[in-house]
Amino acid sequence: MKFFIDTANLAQIREANELGILDGVTTNPSLMAKEGIKGYDAIMNHYKTICEMVNGDISAEVISTDFNGIIEEGKKLAAIHKNIVVKVPMIKDGVKAIKWFTDNGIRTNCTLVFSAGQAILCAKAGAAYASPFIGRIDDIGWDGVQLIEQIKHIYTVQGFKTKVLAASIRNPNHIIRCAEVGADVCTCPLDSILGLLKHPLTDIGLAKFLEDAKKTL
Ligand code: E4P
Repeated sequence: MKFFIDTANLAQIREANELGILDGVTTNPSLMAKEGIKGYDAIMNHYKTICEMVNGDISAEVISTDFNGIIEEGKKLAAIHKNIVVKVPMIKDGVKAIKWFTDNGIRTNCTLVFSAGQAILCAKAGAAYASPFIGRIDDIGWDGVQLIEQIKHIYTVQGFKTKVLAASIRNPNHIIRCAEVGADVCTCPLDSILGLLKHPLTDIGLAKFLEDAKKTL
């Protein structure tokens, strides 16, 4: 399973990258706004900076919702760097645009996927990634990881090439469960990635080793 970081914060991207386990980055308009990135040029430059920092797929989201707008925006985003993946919402014009991008050699990440039916549609259109939002599904009392498992099963039996990108990760356990059910990618906040490191017995064990090591000096 690949690890992407789900942020537009450059310090967090750098920290995850330095850990040596980072395969890519996903962003969205909310994450860009959170970092105070404002204006067309600033947004394009921010994507360029991320592409220069991380050697992997970088998702950049369109904000148009009509076919022509999505295509025009997506072409400009894709021109920033070869690793840009154009993030397109799961709407009717989005599906049409994903097919157009596929036919024109531009890779896409279909975002806001909340059902197996939506995942089938974006795979048929040739999306490189489908992004089911598991945390938001859990938030309404359903089981997000179950959806990841269902989509992965469908893609496998149908031979779809689209990768299942588990998004809206809320905690380390989400990452573990996504790995168990075969997600191709998990895009995670830095806290959830670092949460995987933690175990009290590791801390207790290390403290004891370091204490005993003093006796050997
Ligand atoms: C996916 O690519 C989205 O950026 C993201 O995972 C959404 O997560 P949220 O539900 O925490 O906003």
